[in-house]
Amino acid sequence: MSGARYMESDAMTSPYSLEQYVQDLRTITAEESDPVRITDRVAPLARKFAQAPGWFRPEYRECDVEQGFGVHMLHEEPNHDLAVFLISWLPNRGTTPHNHKTWAVVVGMEGQEQEVNYDRLDDGSKPDYADLQRGGEQVMIAGDVARCYPEHIHSVWNVGKEISMSLHTYGRHINYTGRSEFDLEQKREKPYVIKVAEDEHARA
Ligand SMILES: [Fe+2]
Repeated sequence: MSGARYMESDAMTSPYSLEQYVQDLRTITAEESDPVRITDRVAPLARKFAQAPGWFRPEYRECDVEQGFGVHMLHEEPNHDLAVFLISWLPNRGTTPHNHKTWAVVVGMEGQEQEVNYDRLDDGSKPDYADLQRGGEQVMIAGDVARCYPEHIHSVWNVGKEISMSLHTYGRHINYTGRSEFDLEQKREKPYVIKVAEDEHARA
């Protein structure tokens, strides 16, 4: 019995590691296929991992000046599923409106990131065309958790004065989902691929 108690207390005091988080992602996605159910279960774990000590590296703060944000990969499966990124955003920079074509869970870690949501008015049948209408917005701060479903369209902007950071977990690496970015004024849809930092420690 004393051995069992020791293991229990050991588990309670060990920080929630990236390996444990990824193992939980594998379990959840093996048991669920609905993005709503997946993100319901991933959200509290993503928050727990974001707040766990021991995994953060100073280079995760580095931003890509051209892109406006730095994308640091913590994990992806060999087939590009289950991608975990730490994304750092320069002040007053962000993304165009985009979708993900996979589920996403985002946890605020530092700073203030504004998310603007968009409704699509057309039916998507006309190639390269998209008619979007700006919808609601909110500002994410440390500890906040946001979920996205595959067709959800949003943009993200660092509205603070300092670098902001957030932890992003996707069902699949977003450069491999065939997702899009959108030009609101020109009503255009085009492929959206982001630049991922070549961190030394990054998973091959
Ligand atoms: Fe996004």
